[in-house]
Amino acid sequence: MQKCEVLYIMYYIGIDLGTSSTKMLLLDEQGVIHAEVAHDYPLEFPQPGWSQQDPAHWWQAVKKGMPQLLKGIDAGSVAGIGVAGQMHGLVVLDESDNIIRPAILWNDGRTAKQVDYLNNVIGKDKLSKLTANIAFAGFTAPKILWMQENEPENFARIAKIMLPKDYVNYLLAGVHACDYSDASGMLLLDVEHKCWSREMLEICGVQERQMPKLFESYECIGTLKPEVAAELGLPETVKVCAGAGDNAAAAVGTGVVGQGGCNISLGTSGTVFISSKSFGVDDTNALHAFAHADGGWHLMGCMLSAASCNKWLLEDIFKTGDHAAEQAPISDDKLGRNHVFFLPYLMGERSPINDTNARGTFIGMTMDTTRADLVQAVLEGVAFAIRDSVEVARSLGITIDSSMICGGGAKSKLWKKIMANVLGAELRSPASEQGPGMGGAMLAMVTCGAYESVGAACEKLVGVCEIVKPEPELTALYEKRYQQFRKIYPAVKNLFPEIQ
Ligand code: XUL
Repeated sequence: MQKCEVLYIMYYIGIDLGTSSTKMLLLDEQGVIHAEVAHDYPLEFPQPGWSQQDPAHWWQAVKKGMPQLLKGIDAGSVAGIGVAGQMHGLVVLDESDNIIRPAILWNDGRTAKQVDYLNNVIGKDKLSKLTANIAFAGFTAPKILWMQENEPENFARIAKIMLPKDYVNYLLAGVHACDYSDASGMLLLDVEHKCWSREMLEICGVQERQMPKLFESYECIGTLKPEVAAELGLPETVKVCAGAGDNAAAAVGTGVVGQGGCNISLGTSGTVFISSKSFGVDDTNALHAFAHADGGWHLMGCMLSAASCNKWLLEDIFKTGDHAAEQAPISDDKLGRNHVFFLPYLMGERSPINDTNARGTFIGMTMDTTRADLVQAVLEGVAFAIRDSVEVARSLGITIDSSMICGGGAKSKLWKKIMANVLGAELRSPASEQGPGMGGAMLAMVTCGAYESVGAACEKLVGVCEIVKPEPELTALYEKRYQQFRKIYPAVKNLFPEIQ
C-alpha cells in the first residue's frame, strides 16, 4: 500500500491599514502570497490641512476582505494575524466602546498651536529627553491637546486612546494593546526605555489607564474573540500579534531589520527608515527616533505627500487613471534637465522642515512647458524631498548608498530611476512591493513560532527582485537640480502663512 503523506500548510494574514485603503494578504510559511485584496475608503478634509477618517471604515474593509482572502483555502489553517497601521492617528473610545469622533490622522495639520506650545513652552529639549522626539503636527499628543481645547465635551468622554491598527486589534481580540513602534509616534512613549512617559501623559491631561498595554510587535496580544472568529470565518485559535506602525512593518516586509538597513516607502506618505540595534537620537530632531518592530530602534524621515502628489496631479487635476501613459513621454534624455520644479507640500510638511503652513508649489514654467514636464516635476519633487531626509541621515554619519524601496510609487520604473539618481544610491525592490502587509504577516509568523525571530523570518522570506543603480552622469545632473530645489522653499517659506 502506498503511504499517503498529508502536508499541512499554515497561513498568516497581514493587514495593511492604510490611509486610502486596507490591503490584506495571505502568506504561507515559505513566503508565498496566496491571495491579496484591497478595499478603499474615503478620507475627509473638513478644512484645508485637516485630515480625518471614520474608524468604522477600517473594520468594514477587514470584514469585506476576509471571505475574499480565504476563498479556496481551508480557513482552519490560518494561524495568525498581524496588522500594520497608518501611524499617529488619534482614535478615542468612550466607556461603552463607542467611537467619540472621527480619527484625526497622521497627515492632519490642525495642531500648529499645540505643536508650538509643546516645542516652545514645554520645550524641545524636555520633549526630546522624555520621548526622544519633538512635536510634529501629525503626532498624537498635540491632537489630544487640541481635543482638550476645542472639544472639551468629547475630551471628557475619553475612556480609551488608541492608534488606528490598535482599534482593529481591539475589535479582533478584545485587548487594548499597542506595540512600541507605533506607540513611539504618539509623543507619549519614553522610546529608549519602552514605557509610557508619566510626565508626558500629565502634560497632555491623560491617565495611564486610558492608554493601551504595551507589547513588542511580534508578541501575542490574544486570540480572536469567538463572535468575531465566527463572523470572519476563522478559527478562534487564530493568534493576533501586537503588529506595528506601517513603516516598521514595511521595513520588516523588505528585510530592513538589525543594524544599518534602509527602506524607502513611496506610499501616500514618503519615508526613509534606517534600522538600528541600539537606541539613538538625531540631535536636531529632524528625524524621528522610534522603536522598531524587530525589538530594536530606527530613525525615520517622513514626508506627508509622496505618491499622493502624483495621484493628485494625474487623477484629481488631469482626470486620468493612466499613470503609465502620463509617464511615457518622459524619455531618458529629459531626466535631470527639467526646468520646472515642484515643492510636494500639499499637506504641509513633516521631515525635515516641520512646517504645517508649507504648500505645494510649481515653479519655473514657460510657454513651452508641457503636461509631461509637470508630471516629471512632481516625480522629481518627491525624490528631492526624500533626499532632504537622506541628507539629514548622512549628516549624522550614516551611509546610505543602497536602500530597499516599496509602496505603490515603487511600481513605476521611471520613478525608481529618478529616485536612485537623485539620491545617488542603488534601490532594491523586494518581490512583493506590499511592505506593510507582508511585514504584518511575518510578525504573526514569529508570534506563532514559525520563526524564532523577526530577523530569521526576514532572512528566509525576503528576496530582492530588481536593483536600480545610479548612473554617474545622471546623478551629476540631478545633483545640480537638487541644489537648485533646496533654494526654493527658503525663498517662498514666509509667503505660505500669508496666502492661506
Ligand atoms: C509616519 C507617518 C506615515 C503614516 C502613513 O510617521 O506618519 O508614514 O504612517 O501611513
